[in-house]
Amino acid sequence: MKKHCVLVSGGAGYIGSHTAVELVEAGYDVVIADNLSNSEITAVEGVRRITGVEVPFVEVDCCDREALRTKLFDRYAFDSAIHFAAFKAVNESVQKPLEYYRNNLTSFMNILDLMRATGRPNILFSSSCTVYGEPDRQPVTEETPRKPATSPYGNTKQMCEDILRDTVNASEGMKGIALRYFNPIGAHPSALIGELPRGVPQNLVPYITQTAAGLRECLSVFGDDYPTPDGSNIRDYIDVVDLARAHVAAIRRLIEGKNRSAYEIFNIGTGNGVSVLELVHRFEQANGLKLNYRIAGRRAGDIIAIWADPTRANEELGWRAERDLDDTLRAAWAWEKHLRGIE
Ligand code: UFG
Repeated sequence: MKKHCVLVSGGAGYIGSHTAVELVEAGYDVVIADNLSNSEITAVEGVRRITGVEVPFVEVDCCDREALRTKLFDRYAFDSAIHFAAFKAVNESVQKPLEYYRNNLTSFMNILDLMRATGRPNILFSSSCTVYGEPDRQPVTEETPRKPATSPYGNTKQMCEDILRDTVNASEGMKGIALRYFNPIGAHPSALIGELPRGVPQNLVPYITQTAAGLRECLSVFGDDYPTPDGSNIRDYIDVVDLARAHVAAIRRLIEGKNRSAYEIFNIGTGNGVSVLELVHRFEQANGLKLNYRIAGRRAGDIIAIWADPTRANEELGWRAERDLDDTLRAAWAWEKHLRGIE
């Protein structure tokens, strides 16, 4: 029987590359598309090495509709697409709103439009818990109201969710799922793929691993005076391999027609809230090292606390986060060591 093929746009990126691996390992054909604007071809090579499959790669900008059609849609027989290709830095989006709106909205609308025009039914969209803003109650379920976005980046996530909902509702046979990720961390256990931040990392775990590797002098913990048990922010840190597997479960649901409605939303998190200081100490313990850190002032725009109620994903996707946080933090460090050539 012919294998089902999945387009992974942004498949050279952090979450996209891990998802490509899990899709191949689950028996799907995969085609990766990426413009390499914020990613490296080495990630595609990593996917091929891990899976032993020569996964096809197409260098294309999803904002270029004609190129998408000729290089991708005319050549590959995929019925499903997972759209990761997007700019993702919250602060940068405040500085460059037009670039964010143009890139994140145009690329997704092009993919959607071509999927519809060529009769390909299934679409997953990478959304984010950022759509909940500062929640009034924890943990957040999918019914927790969205709050007005506080950055253009967050706004593009909300807008793309709505664009997906409206498009599949208006297009016979089309189905869409938005996965709202909590905080993805870690790397593939092979240490062949992982996160590749450019410049100074904005996110916590890459900053931690670069500090441990000696690239950064000291981690700043942004605030210890929040109304939380230890005063630092709380997040739901999810292993990137677990997160990748949620995509496989969601794609399977659409292929098998098990979706309850044309558009669905799932929270993808562990259900555990972990503070910044707890995470720092877990990293130290799991890897047997000391991290140079100091308490700094609050970072503008940070929410106090958020963690997921993943019940819907657990029950309906048959998926749950399985990897232990210590293993995840060891994998993050193993990846950093691999990158820096540290023994
Ligand atoms: N933090 C530090 N020091 C650092 C970096 C981060 O203390 O050097 C803290 C932050 O203040 C925050 C926590 O670590 O409390 C996590 O910060 P990240 O930047 O890793 O993640 P965020 O929760 O801010 O952002 C993530 C994604 C966004 C997404 C958002 C949704 O990176 O894409 O979750 O809440 F929009």
